[in-house]
Amino acid sequence: MTEKEVLDALSRVMDPELGRNIVELGMVKNLKVDGEKVDFDLELTTAACPLKDVMKKNAEAVLLKLGASEIEVRVTSRSIAAQSAQNSFISPDTFEEIRGIIPVYSSKGGVGKSTVAVNLAAALAKRGVKTALLDLDIYGPSIPRMMGISGTPAVFGNKLVPPIKHGIQVMSMGFLAGDADRPLIWRAPLANSAVKQLFEDTAWSDVDYLIVDLPPGTGDIPLTFAQNIPISGAVFVTTPQSVALDETRRSVSMFRQLDIPILGLVLNMADFVCPHCGKPTPLYPEAGELKTLEASGVPVLARLPLDPSVAAGGDNGSPTVIEFPDSETAKQYTSLVEQIQAQICRASV
Ligand SMILES: Nc1ncnc2c1ncn2[C@@H]1O[C@H](COP(=O)(O)OP(=O)(O)OP(=O)(O)O)[C@@H](O)[C@H]1O
Ligand SMILES: [Mg+2]
Repeated sequence: MTEKEVLDALSRVMDPELGRNIVELGMVKNLKVDGEKVDFDLELTTAACPLKDVMKKNAEAVLLKLGASEIEVRVTSRSIAAQSAQNSFISPDTFEEIRGIIPVYSSKGGVGKSTVAVNLAAALAKRGVKTALLDLDIYGPSIPRMMGISGTPAVFGNKLVPPIKHGIQVMSMGFLAGDADRPLIWRAPLANSAVKQLFEDTAWSDVDYLIVDLPPGTGDIPLTFAQNIPISGAVFVTTPQSVALDETRRSVSMFRQLDIPILGLVLNMADFVCPHCGKPTPLYPEAGELKTLEASGVPVLARLPLDPSVAAGGDNGSPTVIEFPDSETAKQYTSLVEQIQAQICRASV
């Protein structure tokens, strides 16, 4: 077989998400053809595309049909180091091990950002996605408790080794700040350097998606983060009520001004589900602002109920998606993860 025959055959394999073939998309790398032996890398544009196995199988099938007897397809994906902003205050080496970054944000406080970040990370890890979680809320880090991690990370060389819990690499200022009773007060330049250090000084290792929990507000940290980090797509968390949605619109427009892809909204604490009959009752009257947001291209990715197990799980370090995998909450997270992965795959070409 010749290289051309092999490429012709492979150009019949479509990326189902993108509707274009894998040769045209430049996904076939390091192709070696030796008689009936074919060997190549199938390089995904982004990490953990849900349909990578389908593409691999289809590639093997067309090559078998062509007459190949030995086929080796390695599925790989690019790190985002090359995409990091040239003038970013964070060194591009930081991103060598990271293939995607998803912040969870809303300028409004207390709507469930940290809870969603933890459960989203856990839902990804449960699907076999290599996941990390970075808590950038340096004023009120809640990730250590929500993940059930205490103590100080080990140091290797000049880097901090992120503790691993539920299969997730985790880093937070909460691990470093010592006394939990002492308030964390930062002046802006120091806050920015804390963000830089949490990113740069952590020994991230082989990460498909890094989920980032941001603090509320539109202050230095969300802004510095959004300006300097190569973001794959942002998830916004809000309750479905006008006051929260107004703030969400502002947060979305801040990210849009910086050309950051918006994945969509998670409506949190949206319904009260009766523990006796299971009937959901919306907690807030339907808000017109939600329609406006949707119309501006911000889809609702999940509608999460007010769920006592979510609050309890946050307090005792066991994310609901792991503790109660059959709950409505866990099902919503599964669907959230599927939509996020599909959207990032589509957006990355
Ligand atoms: N779906 C839910 N059901 C029940 N309780 C929830 C739910 N989502 C969040 N909570 C609870 O609401 C409170 C606020 O959640 P969380 O800390 O995640 O919000 P946040 O947006 O990160 O807050 P902050 O702006 O202070 O960082 C927590 O006590 C959490 O356990
Ligand atoms: Mg929080």
